[in-house]
Amino acid sequence: MRAIDEYTATFGEDAGYLNWAAFGPISPAATTALHDTAALLATGRADDIGAASGNDDAARRDVAALLDADADEVTLHPSSTHALQQALAGLDGIVIASAAEFPSVTITLERAASASAGRLAPRWISPAGTRVTPEAVVAALDPAVSALVVSHVDFRSGYRADLEALREALGPERLLIVDAVQSFGVVDEDWTAADVVVGHGYKWLRAGRGSGFARFTAQARERIRPVLSGRIATAAAGLPADALPEPAPSGQAYAVSAADPLASAQLAAAAAEIRAVGVADVAAVLAERVDAVLDIADRHRIPVTSPREAARRAGIVVLAPTDPERVGAALAASGIAVTVRDGAVRVSPHAGTSADTLGMLDEALTGVVNS
Ligand SMILES: Cc1ncc(COP(=O)(O)O)c(C=O)c1O
Repeated sequence: MRAIDEYTATFGEDAGYLNWAAFGPISPAATTALHDTAALLATGRADDIGAASGNDDAARRDVAALLDADADEVTLHPSSTHALQQALAGLDGIVIASAAEFPSVTITLERAASASAGRLAPRWISPAGTRVTPEAVVAALDPAVSALVVSHVDFRSGYRADLEALREALGPERLLIVDAVQSFGVVDEDWTAADVVVGHGYKWLRAGRGSGFARFTAQARERIRPVLSGRIATAAAGLPADALPEPAPSGQAYAVSAADPLASAQLAAAAAEIRAVGVADVAAVLAERVDAVLDIADRHRIPVTSPREAARRAGIVVLAPTDPERVGAALAASGIAVTVRDGAVRVSPHAGTSADTLGMLDEALTGVVNS
């Protein structure tokens, strides 16, 4: 069996699940890792406790490999919002962001600015269709701009930003800070265009909650003061009691306290699983599932507002029927899980989404259109 087929065979969620952009039902590999680690933590043996905390290194290593980064540039966090706090709180200058970004970006940037005593300020942009294009960024640039913070894939429009073009628009000096929550592990991206990448494992990676992470390049570490870092983020080996050592000379400078070995075990298992299959293969099968959803929408003449071009989309298809609430209710009544919000129905399949699930969507929409 091909690795990709073995991977898609591990999807065990209920039929009708098309809400991966909200939550990823956790994979058998992550579940096993969770149970194994819980067993280690139950013995009280020093070796077992040590082995459980070894999951942190494994998680950082596997995430780093997916980012084409060094493990010591990667830190673990309870969520991607915690990771964004690290990236934004220590920045100076003007930071461009779309006012329509997920609140992990908007609220975090606003709060960081208000705590900065004037060192940091947001520059909100409102690009058409919430698409953060290079043109929209260039129009907001001036010498005071120090960074752009952007979702790689927008949670609402499904638009996939062009990181290479954004990097070119910003120039080499300004920081490109990317929220990769809606694409990490399922889009074959060159993450090295970004200075900071944050993400989590609880959607597309199927790792469960508590699995946030961030990567900080050397350029990011030069510009972002580690103002929120904590006891494990220093250059000292061991516990820095009775001393105030300098921040660690690595991504660890943006860590706070020890990661949860259970969450790390799940993240490591999920990231290793994706690595073993290869992101390119996962992305190719996901693209087929997205095409199938688009085909179903087109056959039912339901307008689609998310991008159709392969390079500008990931796993989110946005339907804009005239009565989204009614469509959403009909889908729910047919056992189909999607997100209905802001006048649209967000459908998000994964590579492992079954033909049965797609058939259920087709059938439910037939019912809606006919009624
Ligand atoms: C783009 C984006 N960023 C961040 C988050 C929230 O992530 P976390 O719960 O890890 O803070 C979400 C959740 O839906 C999201 O869609």
